[in-house]
Amino acid sequence: MQEFLEEKIRDKTARVGVIGMGYVGLPLAVEFAKAGFPVTGIDKDQSKVDRLNQGESYIGDVPTAVLAPLVASGKLRASTDFSLIRRLDTVNICVPTPLRKTKDPDMSFVVSACEELAKYFHSGMLVILESTTYPGTTDELVLPMLEETGLKVGKDFFLCFSPERVDPGNPTYQTLNIPKVVGGCTPECTEVAALFYSQSLETVVPVSSTKVAEMVKLLENTFRMINIGLVNEMALMCDRMGINVWEIIEAAATKPFGFMPFYPGPGLGGHCIPIDPFYLSWKTKQAGIEARFIELAGYINGQMPHFVADKVQNALNDHGKPVKGSHIHVMGVAYKRDIDDVRESPALDVIMLLQRRGAKITYSDPYVSELKLDGGAVKASPAEAAVPEADCVVIITDHQSFDYKAVAEQAKLVVDTRNALKGFSQPSIVRL
Ligand SMILES: NC(=O)c1ccc[n+]([C@@H]2O[C@H](COP(=O)([O-])OP(=O)(O)OC[C@H]3O[C@@H](n4cnc5c(N)ncnc54)[C@H](O)[C@@H]3O)[C@@H](O)[C@H]2O)c1
Repeated sequence: MQEFLEEKIRDKTARVGVIGMGYVGLPLAVEFAKAGFPVTGIDKDQSKVDRLNQGESYIGDVPTAVLAPLVASGKLRASTDFSLIRRLDTVNICVPTPLRKTKDPDMSFVVSACEELAKYFHSGMLVILESTTYPGTTDELVLPMLEETGLKVGKDFFLCFSPERVDPGNPTYQTLNIPKVVGGCTPECTEVAALFYSQSLETVVPVSSTKVAEMVKLLENTFRMINIGLVNEMALMCDRMGINVWEIIEAAATKPFGFMPFYPGPGLGGHCIPIDPFYLSWKTKQAGIEARFIELAGYINGQMPHFVADKVQNALNDHGKPVKGSHIHVMGVAYKRDIDDVRESPALDVIMLLQRRGAKITYSDPYVSELKLDGGAVKASPAEAAVPEADCVVIITDHQSFDYKAVAEQAKLVVDTRNALKGFSQPSIVRL
């Protein structure tokens, strides 16, 4: 069975499937198709499927110019029909793994994808879970669902976990050249998956088990979350002591060893850093260990939108304006620079907090034309008009295309949470 599948992988006749065609699944499917595999993307979202089949990309990291020829040549197609799994040799699962309100893992998307997969599962398949999750998911949740079909892992089919490490908007590292860690339920599973990825991606890093592969991703994202928490706490301390935190970080980063700069900001955002570490803390609680670094960093990072709202209110007060009734213009609502993703974006919290205090909010973001808020949808307004008009401008996301010189020169008051106005010294600028 293993040799047969490996042969199909080597000669690129293996029929490849990707379940979940979002920020992770689409770039991955594109790499498989570019390498020469026939690829089927399966997604529940009919509108994404339709756009894909028209060769139109909805993900910033995948240019339509790259996608369209793959679709036109028949190398990549999309469908909402799970029964196509019957004809697939491999399946990568890239569905969301959010948190519930209680901060417990929401595994419903993974479970639902695996239920569909199990219906059409057949021998000789390679299945790889890529959704970020707690250690143990592949062995304890996915494997039993697939073995219920009567097939045996390592013999009849191959099951692995491979963390997705894509960094949307990163021009240097993308799916192709980010090393791919993979760990299987058995050594045979790891071998098949390593061979599969090595056909399309530059570097493959096999590890000894699914749990190791799952934990690698959590270490990486917990490392980021905690370091951001540390530097955010540093920003709070510096604010109290009247020290410029940005200058400190810049000088500390000149140390050529033993220091890695992280930067403070208005809070964490996105589908990964604010969420993934809580998958780990949920799991470790079951083992009787409290993940104290994670809880503490989560608390500090969660305070940042409140700190920013207070900073705006105080800055307005210092200019003799109450926050109530003031026009505040928010620049950037995506969770990070140069992307269109607003999931968990701290901008949403800052806007909500300022609205509650009676401010009138407008926003600009070249990547987000409309924002869904509690009170309904709001359309972006052009920054050129809003910046000179607003009582206060708040820079939440430092998109490169914003005209920061104009902001520094024209805004009556600016609260800059990203040091985007580095080099400008107008008295109207208030830094984090
Ligand atoms: N976005 C990132 O930067 C990033 C980076 C690394 C890892 N991850 C992880 O990758 C996983 C996917 O994240 P994403 O950002 O690509 O999410 P996404 O929301 O962009 O895409 C998920 C896709 O899955 C589809 N879907 C949901 N349930 C489905 C089901 N049962 N069957 C078929 N399709 C289904 C959705 O319609 C959507 O198109 C998550 O676990 C996330 O933590 C994300």
